[in-house]
Amino acid sequence: MKGIVLAGGAGTRLYPATKAFSKQLIPLYGKPMVYYPISVLMLAGIREILIITTPDDQPLFKKLLGNGSQFGIELSYKVQERPEGIAQAFLLADEFLQGEDACLILGDNVFYGQSFDRILREAIQTVETKREAVVFSYFVRDPERYGVVEFNEEHKVISIEEKPKHPKSNYAVVGLYFYPGDVVEQTRTVRPSARGELEITTLNQVYLEKGRLAVQTLGRGFAWLDTGTFESLHEAGEFIRAIEKRQGLQVANLEEIGYNKGWISRDDVLSAVNQYKGSDYAAYLLRLVK
Ligand code: TTP
Repeated sequence: MKGIVLAGGAGTRLYPATKAFSKQLIPLYGKPMVYYPISVLMLAGIREILIITTPDDQPLFKKLLGNGSQFGIELSYKVQERPEGIAQAFLLADEFLQGEDACLILGDNVFYGQSFDRILREAIQTVETKREAVVFSYFVRDPERYGVVEFNEEHKVISIEEKPKHPKSNYAVVGLYFYPGDVVEQTRTVRPSARGELEITTLNQVYLEKGRLAVQTLGRGFAWLDTGTFESLHEAGEFIRAIEKRQGLQVANLEEIGYNKGWISRDDVLSAVNQYKGSDYAAYLLRLVK
């Protein structure tokens, strides 16, 4: 399975903070926002990752993340000229994927919760063994802002609607999606919506109609955080801060994840310590290998 981080978009709700550069480069308590979705892919064991950005932002992402070897992963880059929809990621990733299974995560989505790596591994297994797509739903107060899942009495998904005025449930589809190798082919059947975007919800409807969509629910003990507005960005930062302070453990420290997975050595971690000398991030990494 290969990974894609979709980190383009205009970030208009955060203007003027995101006028000069991408929202996904803004710090979310101590790390650039894009570290959080990359950490999810790494926890899922995915090491080949495509970062999709706007044309202007690509050099900045390359400066920040390089080829990924410092984390024990392999990063490639692709430009999305205009924000023409989340599903467009698969058309842009065609050459990168080469027909392999794909996990797409949105560059501004933050996940935190118990047994997350098990949940991720199970999703990959479902894709591999059943050739089904796997998406996740999460109970939210304001479902009309998202793709919304309707379940029957046996908690089987019967419909998904994009930003419905009258949502059929409170279950929103989160920005983390797993698809089998035919995803590019299926995306080619998706036509742009009224707002001119290739909607991920339409792609999910394609899989649903074929009986090839599994929807897992992330429970209320799980955090799926939004970072699209100043209010939600601040709250997400507060959340990460509270967890990190209480535990003394960092969320989404990419060198730590790479080291724990055995993808980078102690020397690699020490070289990051040297590079980021003077920061809490470096001090944390030093404690990790001492
Ligand atoms: P959105 O929240 O829909 O949009 P945005 O980030 O551009 O922000 P705003 O609404 O304030 O203008 O995007 C969700 C995520 O998906 C975000 O990480 C950007 C990314 N995205 C793209 O990279 N390309 C796209 O075409 C779309 C629709 C989203």
